[in-house]
Amino acid sequence: MKLVLLGPPGAGKGTLAQLLKDSLDITHISTGDILREEMKEGTELGQEAKKYIDNGELVPDELVTKLIENRFKSGQEMKPSFMLDGFPRTKQQAIDLDRILADVNKPLDVALYMKSTLPVLIQRLTGRRVCKNCGLLYHIVNKPPKKEGVCDVCQGELYQRADDNKDTIETRMDVYMKSTMPIIEYYKNQRILIEVDADKDSDTVQEILMKTVNENTKRHNH
Ligand code: AP5
Repeated sequence: MKLVLLGPPGAGKGTLAQLLKDSLDITHISTGDILREEMKEGTELGQEAKKYIDNGELVPDELVTKLIENRFKSGQEMKPSFMLDGFPRTKQQAIDLDRILADVNKPLDVALYMKSTLPVLIQRLTGRRVCKNCGLLYHIVNKPPKKEGVCDVCQGELYQRADDNKDTIETRMDVYMKSTMPIIEYYKNQRILIEVDADKDSDTVQEILMKTVNENTKRHNH
């Protein structure tokens, strides 16, 4: 299964990817995670990306596309199934992704559009906490850790992302509407778009996706 996860900030792309990574035996590639890692390490790319991410703006297409191209063409280990989370985010990135995947003979099977409403997104983003150590996602109301501020799995410290504040969330939503929404039409035209109501709880969203995956696999086997 070769899949892209589409949807606004807070729709639950990262959460779904964490839930499915093991059960589907799939490689998860999140451009947001890769860029935050570069920022943490203070690399040249990280310093450049920080200027955009902290303001809720998109990192320029060339930089992000290069990351994805390297990931697919560098010979780094990758499972036959992959899930892209946070890429593509502009029409240009979608076009470039098709080119990259054609080069490596791995065309997309599904673009999963996680549709969600603004009040839900704001509640999720403002309450999100992330483990500094293992990256596991929490929410102060929807998925609180057993002990406040501490990861259940690795005991790492939980933190709030710098771009999860009210002003930056507003910018991210505007950027999403303007730059990322047109991609939905792009994949609809390719007839690989599947829409999921991402306002539902994460178990339900996961079930819907698993059903989709199974149907897709059956179709491929016939
Ligand atoms: P990125 O990290 O990709 O952020 P995003 O798209 O804004 O998405 P989020 O990570 O905020 O949300 P999510 O949908 O993963 O939600 P999550 O599962 O965490 O990108 C960050 C920045 O990097 C961008 O702004 C940009 O600057 C840059 N960037 C990245 N990719 C780029 C690209 N391709 N081009 C250019 N720039 C790029 O869930 C949120 C919260 O809700 C969690 O607390 C979770 O526990 C809770 N939750 C999730 N699902 C549910 C559910 N179903 N029910 C209840 N609670 C839930």
